[in-house]
Amino acid sequence: GVQGFIFDLDGVLTDTAEFHYRAWQRLADEENLPFDRQANEALRGVSRRESLLKIVGDRPYSEAQLQAMMDRKNHYYVESIQDIAPTDLLPGARELLNELRQAGIKIALGSASKNARPVIEKLGIADLMDTIADGHSVERPKPAPDLFLFAANQLGLQPDQCVVVEDAAAGIEAAIAAKMLTIGLGPVKRVGAADVVLPDLEGVHWADLQAKLNAAKR
Ligand code: BG6
Ligand code: MG
Repeated sequence: GVQGFIFDLDGVLTDTAEFHYRAWQRLADEENLPFDRQANEALRGVSRRESLLKIVGDRPYSEAQLQAMMDRKNHYYVESIQDIAPTDLLPGARELLNELRQAGIKIALGSASKNARPVIEKLGIADLMDTIADGHSVERPKPAPDLFLFAANQLGLQPDQCVVVEDAAAGIEAAIAAKMLTIGLGPVKRVGAADVVLPDLEGVHWADLQAKLNAAKR
């Protein structure tokens, strides 16, 4: 049965996906690179470097220029997360985390972000995590399974004992590659490959999830 949950952060527990988008938009505008919300869809859950590479396309930037642009975007992003507070947890997030803990389920953070730790501290949920896998944990980013496998290993669990909660196509792909059960949050167009698709975590309870995940397992 399920013994662990691995939660993505940005777009799952809090709406920092919007801050990532705005920081990239600001950088793209300054660099006169074409970018908009639509283009940002392909960046959801994607690492900092891969995101920038998608924005610049085949334009010839040097490694130093790419590095400078990544630093600039991160500076904008870090600025925007300073005021994050517990009230910025998305509806249902804290309730589900508490419920899972009470049920004896282990909880990991599985975020591609190098800023994940300060964000969960500001959200006041660092204590609810048994382990944290973030942008510093593994080399290969999502959609590679590495980050989620690292998280499961830290929890002392096998992949098939873990459920991944994700809002990004790249994250669902990574979880499937890790052979874990998946809960996709958001439109079917984005997370339709997940075992269970829900709009968000509002009103979501462990008992319902258990039933839905069991039904999804063939
Ligand atoms: C993911 C976000 O969680 O982290 C992406 O969904 C982001 O938008 C990635 O690019 C890397 O984050 P950071 O903070 O290390 O640039
Ligand atoms: Mg996400």
